[in-house]
Amino acid sequence: MTQATKAEYFPISPLILRPDFKVPFDIFLRHDDSHVLFNASGRTMTKAKRKELALAGIVTIYVDKRSRRLYHDYIRANLLDLLEDESISLTERAQAWTNAATALSKELFETNLPGPAFKKRYVRFQELIRSSAGFLSSPEPLRNLTRFIGKGYETYHHGISTMIYAVNLMQEYKFGDDEVLACGMGALLHDIGLVGMDKALLETDPAAMSPASRQIFTMHPLIGVRVCAHFDLPIIATNCILFHHERIDGKGYPTQASGEEIPLPTRVVALCNRYDDLTRNRPYSRAVKPFDALKSLTDDKGLVEPDMLKRFIKLLSRAEIV
Ligand SMILES: [Fe+2]
Repeated sequence: MTQATKAEYFPISPLILRPDFKVPFDIFLRHDDSHVLFNASGRTMTKAKRKELALAGIVTIYVDKRSRRLYHDYIRANLLDLLEDESISLTERAQAWTNAATALSKELFETNLPGPAFKKRYVRFQELIRSSAGFLSSPEPLRNLTRFIGKGYETYHHGISTMIYAVNLMQEYKFGDDEVLACGMGALLHDIGLVGMDKALLETDPAAMSPASRQIFTMHPLIGVRVCAHFDLPIIATNCILFHHERIDGKGYPTQASGEEIPLPTRVVALCNRYDDLTRNRPYSRAVKPFDALKSLTDDKGLVEPDMLKRFIKLLSRAEIV
């Protein structure tokens, strides 16, 4: 092993590397305070090397930040093949997808909005969904994905989860690829208006907020649309951001639209957003089990129509999530 020179590194999972394929960037292991070269650029990441890492309990490897572009190109070129590689367990493939999606969406949410960097990262994420839509909406991968995507407090964790459920539910309605993708991107970005809001506010239960705090908080759909207004977001995605807190009984916000005034893909995001809220640990609440979340959604007659909830329950049942 070679001692690395001074550099900055970012963490990745070994699972993201396709076994027995050449990796176009150096891979390092962390050893105390330094990083040591494990697999040099251009060399094959063999199954034996992956096994060596697994046996040593190493779940994080590192890439030099200067190789970030090579890394993203590699992910783009290999993820679909990795997802379709049946020699890799479904659990590992689901973990690999989650790692890639989390890294890309974290970058997207941390960009200084709006600007060219945001647009570039948006396109990268869109490519990720486009290329993995088949994987995301098959029952078995979905069941495995929900084990990984349910973790994390950050807005982008919730965004990825909502996106996966929304892509699946849109496909229940037989929407075309473009509509599914637009709704997926709207679901991913639906809470982007929360980015930059006071941390203490975001850690408060919306139901327990003071009127002043609530007024600020409920601005987030409008802020979200404003930050995304600088590039051509499809109208379906814009609607999902703007209206994801509307309800068919007209008691939502920001416009109190009701029934079919709220477009169907937006109602899809409203439902998936609420389901993920209920099943995710938050600083102010504990996650409930999928069955209990669906019970609570069934009792809440005014969020979306019963038929939509029925389709949602059907897809979760098919994936054996409930
Ligand atoms: Fe929201």
